[in-house]
Amino acid sequence: MVKICCIGAGYVGGPTMAVIALKCPSVEVVVVDISVNRIAAWNSDQLPIYEPGLDDAVKQCRGKNLLFSTDIEKHVSEADIVFVSVNTPTKTRGLGAGKASDLTYWESAARMIAEVSKSDKIVVEKSTVPVRTAEAIEKILTHNSKGINYQILSNPEFLAEGTAMQDLFNPDRVLIGGRETPEGRKAVQALKDVYAHWVPEDRILTTDLWSAELSKLAANAFLAQRISSINAISALCEATGANVSEVAYAVGKDSRVGPKFLNASVGFGGSSFQKDILNLVYISECNGLSAVANYWYQVIQMNDYQKNRFVNRVVASMFNTVSGKKIAVLGFAFKKDTGDTRETPAVDVCKGLLRDKATISIYDPQVTEDQIQRDLATNKFYWDRPVHLQPMSPTAMKQVSIAWDAYEAAKGAHGVCILTEWDEFKELDYRRIYNDMQKPAFVFDGRNVVDPEKLRAIGFIVYAIGKPLDSWLKNMPAVA
Ligand code: UDX
Ligand code: ADP
Repeated sequence: MVKICCIGAGYVGGPTMAVIALKCPSVEVVVVDISVNRIAAWNSDQLPIYEPGLDDAVKQCRGKNLLFSTDIEKHVSEADIVFVSVNTPTKTRGLGAGKASDLTYWESAARMIAEVSKSDKIVVEKSTVPVRTAEAIEKILTHNSKGINYQILSNPEFLAEGTAMQDLFNPDRVLIGGRETPEGRKAVQALKDVYAHWVPEDRILTTDLWSAELSKLAANAFLAQRISSINAISALCEATGANVSEVAYAVGKDSRVGPKFLNASVGFGGSSFQKDILNLVYISECNGLSAVANYWYQVIQMNDYQKNRFVNRVVASMFNTVSGKKIAVLGFAFKKDTGDTRETPAVDVCKGLLRDKATISIYDPQVTEDQIQRDLATNKFYWDRPVHLQPMSPTAMKQVSIAWDAYEAAKGAHGVCILTEWDEFKELDYRRIYNDMQKPAFVFDGRNVVDPEKLRAIGFIVYAIGKPLDSWLKNMPAVA
């Protein structure tokens, strides 16, 4: 029986291993983590992450061929294949601060593997890492090898949160990078055999280590670039009266462009896009390619611009001040169908409104109060570190309250900001919300989930990203 151990029971490790266990009954899968709480949650009825379909998969295999454990060393030493899916935060100090990846967690995992291993192992990079990390890991392992043979593979994960299970069941591709030696090819084949239980052969791509690592960074950069491109166009639409949804539809009809991932928004978030692009920028700079670095950095700058622009719109349309005004924030997660708030644009928007002394009431169907308070108090780039290492900056937390539903959040508010595209926000009784709000009542739709005309008919002043402005907003232009 093949034994797999995955180090890191997070958003990637947990769902990926659940699907491997479900699809490969003959493989034993153990997911290990240093966080006792996380492992306890994986072993309970309340999984540590919200992901549609995940509960079902875990329930089917947990206790059979899927285990969650804190006994890291035992399970690593027994495994044939070790996946490493630990966090790789952006460095906050020293060389490359604000851009480069901090590989502390990776390095400590590699050293631990070297220490406890008694048999040959295939070590698989699952978390996104800078190009040539595999080579560094290989060095750590071989310099401490005690005669054990290690093969390093890069097998980046392309799942998106909220659709992780579908993405894993039916991936566009599985990418495996390995050394071009007989041992390397054998290791690639061993991992291929695992995926071949459910993924068609032609979707399993194999390549060299560095190309696999770079492909993941490049794929995320391309995806984020599409969003920044349509967001740039959204600003132009607002200035000229065009409708960004119409433009995106027309552009996406070109089969070379394609219709997906062209939704203008308040900005992209999530644990990957910004971090991976910063990495790409750093790697380009290190290779003397400043033109390449500047090109990709623009994608992040456009995203920051979009978030600032949104805050400016809110403040400008409310007579240039939100001081003491109640603003309801609907949605805090970085996208719908997840409780994840890593790099969510809601943090920047809320911080922007708080700077202008607004009082905010936040509702999100999946994000806990604790998480929101922590996110609003945490400094930039610290979210991917263990909680006890996150320095907190003093914020005006008295100005923030958490509501149980959208109606409570909006009661007595001057404005409503929609920051996550949860389906339930499309179905709200906006007339009821309007009746309970201060007048004039504003809706700022950062995700284009409402029909502006319907809301205007109720009496709202509506701002929707990239959509024609009502005269109120035209008369109160925001500084971009
Ligand atoms: C992303 C990649 O899609 C995935 O392949 C990779 O493995 C990890 O990073 P994820 O961050 O989970 O996945 O979600 P994704 O659906 O890509 O959304 C990222 C952000 O972009 C979200 O904030 C989302 O709301 C935003 N977005 C997405 C837009 O603003 N407009 C779009 O058209 C699409
Ligand atoms: P991702 O979204 O990439 O899955 P997460 O932050 O959700 O990232 O998960 C990473 C997990 O890795 C965390 O649960 C963290 O506790 C765990 N981790 C980090 N370092 C180690 C280590 N050396 N050994 C075991 N687990 C680790």
